[in-house]
Amino acid sequence: MVPFSLLPIASFLTFLSRPAQTFPAPHCTESLASVTASATNFDLSSGSLPENATVPVSGTFKVKLRFCEPTVVVPGRVDTLQVVVHGLTYGHQYMDPDFEPDTYSWVRWASAHGYATLNMDRLGYGESDHPDPATVVQPPFDAAFMAQIIRLGRAGRVAGAPGPFKKIVYVGHSFGSRVGNEVISTFPDLVDAAILTGYGHKIGNPGDVAFQPAKEVDPVRFGDLPSGYVTSVDAESRAAGFYGAQGTFDPAMLAYDEAQKDTASVGELAFLTGTKDGIVGRPAPDFKGDVFAVSGDSDLFVCTEPNCTNLASEEQFYPAARSFEFAVIPDAGHCLHLHFTAPILYKTTLDWLNRHGY
Ligand SMILES: *[C@@H]1O[C@H](CO)[C@@H](O)[C@H](O)[C@H]1NC(C)=O
Ligand SMILES: *[C@@H]1O[C@H](CO)[C@@H](O)[C@H](O)[C@H]1NC(C)=O
Repeated sequence: MVPFSLLPIASFLTFLSRPAQTFPAPHCTESLASVTASATNFDLSSGSLPENATVPVSGTFKVKLRFCEPTVVVPGRVDTLQVVVHGLTYGHQYMDPDFEPDTYSWVRWASAHGYATLNMDRLGYGESDHPDPATVVQPPFDAAFMAQIIRLGRAGRVAGAPGPFKKIVYVGHSFGSRVGNEVISTFPDLVDAAILTGYGHKIGNPGDVAFQPAKEVDPVRFGDLPSGYVTSVDAESRAAGFYGAQGTFDPAMLAYDEAQKDTASVGELAFLTGTKDGIVGRPAPDFKGDVFAVSGDSDLFVCTEPNCTNLASEEQFYPAARSFEFAVIPDAGHCLHLHFTAPILYKTTLDWLNRHGY
């Protein structure tokens, strides 16, 4: 038998990603929910990010929700809902891709381990409403809007939910984690646990990912959007910014990702590029739940130190948390769920959930 270390990395990772089991597709219910929220946003009209938020914003917008039932009953988990939230230039497909879902779909994996999930297209994404991308779709309003979705989820008032849930596990990726950070900072009692993937407070080098108005990149899909909705220009740019080295991901996954890609708002992007000292996000001094920070070892956005050891310092932002842990997933870039090592991410997270009673 050939030791793994003698195999080329790509064939080892391909071997690793072959699903150990297949997961049945869960029963899911989609809906367009009407959600009202208000917040104080930042005035971006000068083209830079001011120190404080000053502009009250409120509104009612439609959001596409997708509630999926567990495919097995695990007694300790029937009262737990995972709220799963994608990042910039993705929609709900990030957490539930059609491409080889046994390997890559967080939603399928969660269903197969007894969790109900509430997946979505965030405000400004996919089939949800697209309000003004500069004045409305910014972290303060994003968080207030998400808080309302979480309240609906906890109360069991989303289409498909069998009833109320006692525990909420927020699972974010990238800007979805940034929004989760804002939620537990502003509304510290809403969720029990926050799993923040692809996110740290100190931004690294965002690589070569180039954004342009989405309507110029793909007039067929995005021609109706204002130019403040942007997206990555092509697959090469996406690979450079979001993926690890060649061989750590399936080129067919990158092609699927490129075909499915969504947009991002300039109001959200301003919080990546314009922040003081490169700090992205806020402390959550009053959050008393559990926090798990997880990133790929070659995440250009998150890793400011080799092997992403800087994730350890995320603990300082959650001083009242019941627990803080971090994990680094090998051979994965920013979109760690879409790499060959995604099953390691899922196993690592399941172990964490088990250890913390979720
Ligand atoms: C921002 O808010 C802080 C805290 O209220 C205040 O000390 C500071 O002066 C404000 N900055 C500006 C530019 O208004
Ligand atoms: C990064 O992690 C790998 C695998 O765990 C280890 O072999 C390597 O020495 C680490 N590198 C650094 C710079 O810590």
